[in-house]
Formats: sequence, C-alpha cells, structure tokens
Amino acid sequence: MTHTQQTLRGNLMRAVQFESFGGPSVLTVADVPAPEPGPGQITLDVTHAGVNFAEVMFRRGQFPVELPHFPGLEAVGTVRATGDGVTGFRTGDRVAALTLGGGGNAEVVAASAEHAVRLDGPLAALDSALAAGALCNVTTAIGVLTSAGRLAEGESVVVLAAAGGVGTAAAQLARTLGAATVIGVTSSPAKAEYARGFGYDSVVTYEDLEREVAERTGGAGVDLVLDSVGGAFRSSVTALLAPFGRHVIFGNAAAEDVTFEGNHPWYTSTSLAGYNLGGVAGRAPHLLRAHLEQALSKVADGTVRVDVRRLPLKDVAHAHELLETRASTGKYVLDVRA
Ligand SMILES: NC(=O)c1ccc[n+]([C@@H]2O[C@H](COP(=O)([O-])OP(=O)(O)OC[C@H]3O[C@@H](n4cnc5c(N)ncnc54)[C@H](OP(=O)(O)O)[C@@H]3O)[C@@H](O)[C@H]2O)c1
Repeated sequence: MTHTQQTLRGNLMRAVQFESFGGPSVLTVADVPAPEPGPGQITLDVTHAGVNFAEVMFRRGQFPVELPHFPGLEAVGTVRATGDGVTGFRTGDRVAALTLGGGGNAEVVAASAEHAVRLDGPLAALDSALAAGALCNVTTAIGVLTSAGRLAEGESVVVLAAAGGVGTAAAQLARTLGAATVIGVTSSPAKAEYARGFGYDSVVTYEDLEREVAERTGGAGVDLVLDSVGGAFRSSVTALLAPFGRHVIFGNAAAEDVTFEGNHPWYTSTSLAGYNLGGVAGRAPHLLRAHLEQALSKVADGTVRVDVRRLPLKDVAHAHELLETRASTGKYVLDVRA
C-alpha cells in the first residue's frame, strides 16, 4: 500500500485551494475528492510541488480562473492511475509533470501524459524536490533564451528578477549557450548578492542597470532582455537594446502593463518577442516536451543548479507571501507529505 493510499480518507485528499481572489490568506488546505485520470492523463500521488509566481497572479485575480481554484502548475510523485490511451507509464513509476490545469499543490493531481516525464534512466538519481523546482522555471528559462530570445554565442543578456526561480536558471543557461555577458537585475543589494552565485557577470539594482549596460557593452547596448517584470520599467527597455536586440516579455510581476505602438520595432530597430508556457504547450507540444526534458536533464547532470527551499504543504501561503513581497530568492517547493 502506498503512503498516499494510507493517508487518503476514503477518496479525500488534502489540496490547496482558494474560493475568492485576494491576499495569501485566501489559500486554505481543504479535504476534497481526489481526481481520476481522464483520457490521455495520469494521476500522481504527489510528493513535491513547486510554487510559481504565476500562482500568485491567479490568486490575486490577475487572470480569470474558475473558483474554487486549485493552484499548482508542477508536481513530482508516483503514478497512481493511468487514463484511456496512455502508454509508457505504469502505476508506481516516479514522474515529474507540468500540471498546467492547476491542482499540483495537492496529494493527488491529474496531468496530461504529454507533460509528464518518467524519472528513470539518467534521471533516476534526480531528487524529487529538485525535479519539482525545475519543471516550470527551467523549462521557461530554456524557452525564453532559445525559441523566443534566439540567443547566439557571444551575445549579451540582461535578466530581470535575477534572483528568482526563472532568473537563476536563465543566467546559468545563458552561459551554457555561449553568452559573452550576463547582467542580472534585482530590487535589492541583498538579492543581488544572492544572485551572483548563479553565473552572472554582474548583478545590479534597477536604478543602476542603464549605467551597467553601457559600461559592459561599451555603449553598444544589450542583445537580449528577459522581462518578466513589466510596469514602468518595460517602457525603458528599448533604450538598453543594441540594434536588432530582442526584448522578450513573459510576465507581469508589477501587475501593470504598458502599450507599444505597431511602429515601435521599426523606429527602434528592435524586436518584441513573447513566451507563454501554456500557449507553447497548446500550439507546439513537441517543442514544450523537448524543453521540459532538457530542463530535467540539465538539473540532473548539474548544469543548472536549482536552489530549493522546502516547506510543508500547509505553509503554501508563506511561500506566496515571500514571492509577492519580493522577499523570495530561489525556488519554493512544497513537501506535500509533511
Ligand atoms: N510566460 C510564462 O510562461 C512564464 C512561465 C514561468 C514564469 N513566468 C514569469 O516569470 C517570472 C518569474 O517566475 P518565478 O516563479 O521564477 O518567480 P520569481 O522570479 O521567483 O519571483 C518573482 C520576482 O519578480 C520580481 N518582481 C518585480 N516586480 C515585482 C512586484 N511588483 N511584485 C512582486 N515581484 C516583483 C521580484 O524580483 P525583484 O524583487 O528582484 O525584482 C520577484 O522576486 C514571473 O513574473 C512569472 O510570472 C512566466
């Protein structure tokens, strides 16, 4: 009998949920029915689940999600059951899965088999908490640097939110992709100090970025800016870019947007690019899967270090609070069985 079978009461499982939008206090851990796998899905007895900034945005109502909502975009555990049409997974297999429909912060989650990777072979030794911490963040970092950002060898990169989950992965990956200069940006000197351990040439606060880019690029400007932050800062990115530089937009942590005119790329000789994990999953599933497998491999072989802070499931609101107040560094992973 598995641990989860022992702890589930009837078919009830513990799951993080919120019934209204608001601050971290709307998050509760409730007893709800465990999901069954639909066609093409597997269910997992979850051991570890990552916490992402996207879940903060869902919780505060920045995106329309149905209520009650069950957050959690990634989970690691063992296969509990397989749905119709699923091949390649057996009950008991250890698996890491993107759970893009949510529900990952729970004892049991349903995931598309397309977004699930067995942790065997070269991934067998990968720690479950590390795998949970890699799923969204490292996959996204690969997508924004390569498919969206088209990073080429010898180029320069600026990474906003440099000390966060995606940021720390992006810096290390940019190095392996041959970037000549990688500049990080954080909101505080303490976070900058933390981020320096992840392969950046320099990490500065937002106020110092313009000067830093000018100095590091000899006034030429930077080739690629990874912008998950948005807000007023987004409008100033163009001024940092070299001719034909790319501004990759993949988030809006500041929760305020800016508008660009259609003539903007023409006038500035720069490109705006975007990345959305869910969108790529829907429209380019093979590419997403390739990036997902690369992400797990790069963490397993030590190319990318994920700095995981583990919390019990009941402390999910604390992880949200740290992310939302910009007090977080690295990656928060919930120990679902604790
Ligand atoms: N498009 C996609 O598919 C996709 C996928 C994954 C992640 N993302 C985005 O990528 C970003 C990183 O995700 P993550 O989970 O790794 O989060 P994270 O970077 O660990 O945390 C978010 C960071 O955003 C920065 N930030 C800037 N303005 C902020 C504000 N007003 N309030 C709160 N934080 C602010 C903070 O860093 P500083 O304090 O140093 O500025 C904060 O640490 C998020 O914006 C997320 O939505 C997008």
